[in-house]
Amino acid sequence: MPETERIAAGLLLEQSAFESEIYGRPAARLLLDQDAGNLEQIDRFLAGAAHRWQKAGYLLISCRLPQALDARLGEKFDAAGFRKIETLVTLERQIPVASEGLPRPDKAEPRDFDACIELAKSAFSYDRFHVDRRLPASKADQLKAAWVRNALNGRADTALVARNGIGDIVGFNLLLRRGNAAIIDLIAVAETARGQGYGRKLVEAGIESYRGQALTMRAGTQIDNTASLALYRQCGFHQIESAITRHWVAPTATGLIQ
Ligand SMILES: CC(C)(COP(=O)(O)OP(=O)(O)OC[C@H]1O[C@@H](n2cnc3c(N)ncnc32)[C@H](O)[C@@H]1OP(=O)(O)O)[C@@H](O)C(=O)NCCC(=O)NCCS
Repeated sequence: MPETERIAAGLLLEQSAFESEIYGRPAARLLLDQDAGNLEQIDRFLAGAAHRWQKAGYLLISCRLPQALDARLGEKFDAAGFRKIETLVTLERQIPVASEGLPRPDKAEPRDFDACIELAKSAFSYDRFHVDRRLPASKADQLKAAWVRNALNGRADTALVARNGIGDIVGFNLLLRRGNAAIIDLIAVAETARGQGYGRKLVEAGIESYRGQALTMRAGTQIDNTASLALYRQCGFHQIESAITRHWVAPTATGLIQ
C-alpha cells in the first residue's frame, strides 16, 4: 500500500507504519486537505469506506479534525462507523530569553533508557490507544514503550529525566523540534512519584533546555487528563487549539461494525 494516497477529493489516507507494526495489522490515518475539499464527496466516500477498509484488512483508521470542522463533519464520520475517542488540546507558552532560574536539564543517558521504557509501560491511560476499549490495552502499553524507545534512540531532539533522592528514574520528558517551536512529545512521572513536583521540574527543565534555541514550547493533551492540563497551566501554557480524534476499528468476530 502506498504510504499516502488520495482516496477522494479532499481526503488522504496515510499509512501508520508504527501502529501497524505494534498491532500486527494495517492501521492508517485519514487526513483532510486544508480546504476540506468537497464535503458532498467526502460524505459519499465515507458511506462505503468501512466496507473497503474491512476488505483491505485494516484494524484501525484514525482521523483528527479541528473542533470547528468536526462540528460540520463529525456526524458523517459517526454514520460511517467512526467513534469519538478524545478531545485533544494543544497548549503553548513563550520560551524566555533571559534566565528565570529554572531547573537545570538532566539529559537521559543510555544507562537510563531501560528505566524510562519500563516506566512508559504503565504510565499512560488517557491517550487514544488506551481509551479505545476495542483495542487491546496490552498493545497500548507496548506502543508507548516502543514510542519511548524510538525517542531515546534518536527520534527525540531532547530527552530529559527526573531522578528521586537515590538517583532512580522517576520521570521523563521527550521533546521534538519543529522550526522555532519545541514540542513536548511525551512526558510521564511514575505513579508512585506523582504530586511531588517532578512533572513541573521536567517541564521547566525542558523550557530551560530551549532558552535561546526556540521561541515557543507546545504540548498536547487530552481534555480529560486533568493532571497534565493542570501541570501545563501551572507552567504558564495556554490553550491555542482543540481537535477531536475519531477511530474506526475493524468489526469483531461477531461481524458487527463497532
Ligand atoms: C501529568 C504528570 C506528568 C504530572 O506529573 P506530577 O509529577 O504528578 O506533577 P507535579 O507534582 O509536578 O504537579 C505539577 C502541577 O500540576 C498540578 N497537578 C498535578 N497532578 C494533578 C492532578 N491529578 N490534579 C490536579 N492538579 C494536578 C499540581 O497541582 C501542580 O501544581 P503546583 O506546582 O502549583 O502545585 C503525571 O500525572 C503523569 O505522569 N501522568 C501520566 C502520563 C500522562 O498522562 N502524561 C501526559 C501525556 S500528554
